[in-house]
Amino acid sequence: MPVKCRFCERPAFIKLHYPKMYLCPEHFMEYFERKVKRTIERYKLLRPDERVLVVVSGGKDSAVTAHVLKKLGYSIECLHINLGIGEYSKKSEEYAKRQCRGLAPLHIVRVKELLGKGIGEVRTRRPTCSYCGLTKRYIFNKFAYDNGFDAIATGHNLDDEASFILANLMNWNTQYLAKQGPLLPGEGRFVKKIKPLYELTEREVVAYALASGIEYHMEECPHAAGATTLEYKSILNDMEEKRPGTKINFVKGYLRKKKLFEAELEEYELGKCSVCGMPAQGERCSFCRFWGRSEELKL
Ligand code: AMP
Ligand code: FES
Ligand code: ZN
Ligand code: ZN
Repeated sequence: MPVKCRFCERPAFIKLHYPKMYLCPEHFMEYFERKVKRTIERYKLLRPDERVLVVVSGGKDSAVTAHVLKKLGYSIECLHINLGIGEYSKKSEEYAKRQCRGLAPLHIVRVKELLGKGIGEVRTRRPTCSYCGLTKRYIFNKFAYDNGFDAIATGHNLDDEASFILANLMNWNTQYLAKQGPLLPGEGRFVKKIKPLYELTEREVVAYALASGIEYHMEECPHAAGATTLEYKSILNDMEEKRPGTKINFVKGYLRKKKLFEAELEEYELGKCSVCGMPAQGERCSFCRFWGRSEELKL
């Protein structure tokens, strides 16, 4: 006999470990959407009238974020950045287009067309993932700011957050630990950033994509091979299996104790980038410096 859903007669589609229950696809989707709604309310991520830019990579997390925010009635548009990493980026863009069709307007920015080189093609001592992150964050923010969005939503899930905190604790990166969370408030030219899937595990996100028929790019970025965050994720998954609730309790505990790290935050004067006007530590912001910009980026 197949196990039945906790709330109806249908066969179960997933077993949740924390809280422990079996659910059919419909009741699982309802549970998932309610949890996103609660996250938005608990951390005051959004007001009902705010315009949200969902940044979609072609992967599962951001596609599910866009889907659920739309279902909850928010006004969303999407932005995909084609990073110019060969076939990997081509496929990512195709998935992003497919995911947004009939859901929300999709804007596409292509790094190679915009900056002359793709990610991975720049000769630099800086690790690829590091300047990739810098470039993505700058473009997300600039696009959102120039187009009057109130918030940028990313697909970060509970596993991403727990592994980020663990990795930064292992290295005592207190500066990073002071600024992490489901909500990064906007300030001046910085648009507010939110993580609606903050309390949902990667396993739940995969199950939601499956239950709602969302197709997504499964490949990892070729530059991510061997990334230590994947090791931390695997350690946390082992612990979660033995003690369900480990990840959520770890992350919630961190949020309660975050103040300890804030005390370590180094205050420095921020000036204005002479090229683009964004806050900058030196004469130019890190994006304009890295890409050798002498004029403001036009998106
Ligand atoms: P990552 O840093 O690759 O784990 O991605 C974190 C979040 O950033 C994803 O959930 C997406 O919301 C967003 N993101 C990552 N890559 C892209 C991209 N190429 N275009 C748009 N959004 C992206
Ligand atoms: Fe940025 Fe891989 S996605 S280097
Ligand atoms: Zn059911
Ligand atoms: Zn700049």
